[in-house]
Amino acid sequence: MNKIIILTGAGVSAESGLETFRSEDGLWAQHRIEDVATPEGFMRDPDLVLRFYNRRRADCAAARPNAAHQALAALEQAPGHDVLLVTQNVDDLHERAGSQNVIHMHGALNLAKCHDCGHGWPAPERMSVSDRCARCQARATRPDIVWFGEMPSQMARIEAALQQADLFVAIGTSGQVWPAAGFAQQARMCGAATLELNIEPTAVRGDFRDGRYGPAGEVVPAWVEEVLRR
Ligand code: APR
Repeated sequence: MNKIIILTGAGVSAESGLETFRSEDGLWAQHRIEDVATPEGFMRDPDLVLRFYNRRRADCAAARPNAAHQALAALEQAPGHDVLLVTQNVDDLHERAGSQNVIHMHGALNLAKCHDCGHGWPAPERMSVSDRCARCQARATRPDIVWFGEMPSQMARIEAALQQADLFVAIGTSGQVWPAAGFAQQARMCGAATLELNIEPTAVRGDFRDGRYGPAGEVVPAWVEEVLRR
């Protein structure tokens, strides 16, 4: 059984119309990370944070999975391949394309939680500072998204999978944010082949044995087709 770990980033959803973070006009050019993607920013101005994620949740609902999402779902269904899809993305386009074995290590726009008691529930379309937690009644509802300074989800499961992988593929990520930025090196140290798929070589291209470049909607289906032909 060919064990493949795939790490995706914002670039895999770019052709679905969702903004990436570090492009010139990306999300971090429009908003300060400390204002909208940290617990401190949420405590300082919860309304600004909830409005930021309401907007991204609406963009996500209006977006459709692209050929890259669909190809990754087809790879997961193919016999002979054990595929774990670890995404840094908070959109649900992988699931809407049919991927099932997905870990959202940075959380998900369609989940909400209470900042006080940790109770979780499916996120409504729009969250507001007047919403109350159904369990503790606190007005502390927030998106269930991992902010800077918080612990990514399911790291033990990801680390265990990296040790077993035959192949690690990073798709549409700039490789700038830890711990995801270290996954290629970890996989390689455990004997996995490593492949970067991106629209252009990234600053961490040297962490990968191979690289293929072009829009994810073209490069990912071509790569999956090649794997399925083997
Ligand atoms: N096809 C393939 N790759 C693309 C495309 C495309 N059409 N468009 C952009 N890219 C690539 C860019 O070259 C870049 O390497 O996608 C990557 C996007 O990088 P970032 O904007 O940094 O997004 P990402 O790597 O997902 O960020 C990781 O940082 O801010 C945090 O939590 C946030 O999950 C996010 C994490």
